[in-house]
Amino acid sequence: MTSTLLTNIGELTTNDPEADDLLGLIEDAALVVDGSTVAWVGRAADAPPADEALDLGGRAVLPGFVDSHSHLVFAGDRAAEFAARMAGESYAAGGIRTTVAATRAATAEQLTSHVARLVEEMRRQGTTTAEIQSGYGLSVRDEARSLAVARQFTEETTFLGAHVVPEGTTPEEYVDLVTGPMLDAAAPHARWIDAFCERGAFDADQARTVLEAGATRGLRGRLHANQLGPGPGVRLAAELGLVAVDHCTYLDDADVDALRESGTIATLLPGVEFSTRQPYPDARRLLDAGVRVAIASDCNPGSCFTSSLPLCIALAVREMGMTPAEAVHAATFRGAQALDRDDVGALLPGRRADLMVLDAPTHVHLAYRPGVPLVRGVWVAGRPV
Ligand code: NIG
Ligand code: FE
Repeated sequence: MTSTLLTNIGELTTNDPEADDLLGLIEDAALVVDGSTVAWVGRAADAPPADEALDLGGRAVLPGFVDSHSHLVFAGDRAAEFAARMAGESYAAGGIRTTVAATRAATAEQLTSHVARLVEEMRRQGTTTAEIQSGYGLSVRDEARSLAVARQFTEETTFLGAHVVPEGTTPEEYVDLVTGPMLDAAAPHARWIDAFCERGAFDADQARTVLEAGATRGLRGRLHANQLGPGPGVRLAAELGLVAVDHCTYLDDADVDALRESGTIATLLPGVEFSTRQPYPDARRLLDAGVRVAIASDCNPGSCFTSSLPLCIALAVREMGMTPAEAVHAATFRGAQALDRDDVGALLPGRRADLMVLDAPTHVHLAYRPGVPLVRGVWVAGRPV
């Protein structure tokens, strides 16, 4: 196995939980990659020898982003819906059915090459781990097919049969399908199960039924909740002890208390509010209350078609009251925790060597220079990609 010394790192974000600062920053740093993992981090002056050395010219190095929420398996786009929103219409979850029709009509090869393009787009922007959900199939064949496509790209696949009720079926019939034959077909390809707990989609009882059925097949639960208005989803997630609950745009004090007490991570998706003109979730309130906050993209053709975590970080800082350090931490360390992963999200000995090199001296530039492609290089499992 070859070892490589990355040296002359202007600022290294380790996310060391033992450090005094949130990001475990080391200035004038170096890092040794051995095979697929990090072998050593510290000051460049103290670095051990390695087989090869690479001078990074004072640039910042961070852990690769962990995007814990995306919907990459789909066909078609909904640019016209976005344009109509920007002309004053409001977001409606019913648009999901437009994507379902296009996704069902696509071949598996078309879906695979589309996901490959989006995963590559994510990579170029620093994302090295992505969760990918189904949810645009909504039939036994199409949900299983979407998950099989997603599995080619990530272990973090999520069965979202309970996205909306498709045309031609009642909610009761559809929940029976999702928790029966669809779950049978989906489970071999999925690690997680999710439901869109929202007015117009699934209520709390239905979401609970779906997650409990998934648990009997070994699938871990997650929820889309409190996205379009207040509702019971966040409290349900806390009651079930889920590792994370996603969106969390409309929260009352009881929701915030429930998140703090359960330890459930609130995954905020600021690209959605940007793309729907809804109010941003109040990250400051959550952090000040002691809630753990992750940031993810929610990349999907309807509510938010961005794959860019640098954009989401900039929005979280500018619009949601997070500091640059908190936002970077939320898109790396907390993203990994939201997927219950301890091998990624930090650059410490033994962790996977998934990292990005910025064309900038510090992590702050990710928010300070919005819209600028700062990611100069990405390494996955110890290799540049
Ligand atoms: O996370 N909330 C539900 N699902 C997606 C949006 C899906 C769509 O509009 O196509 C989301 O925002
Ligand atoms: Fe989503």
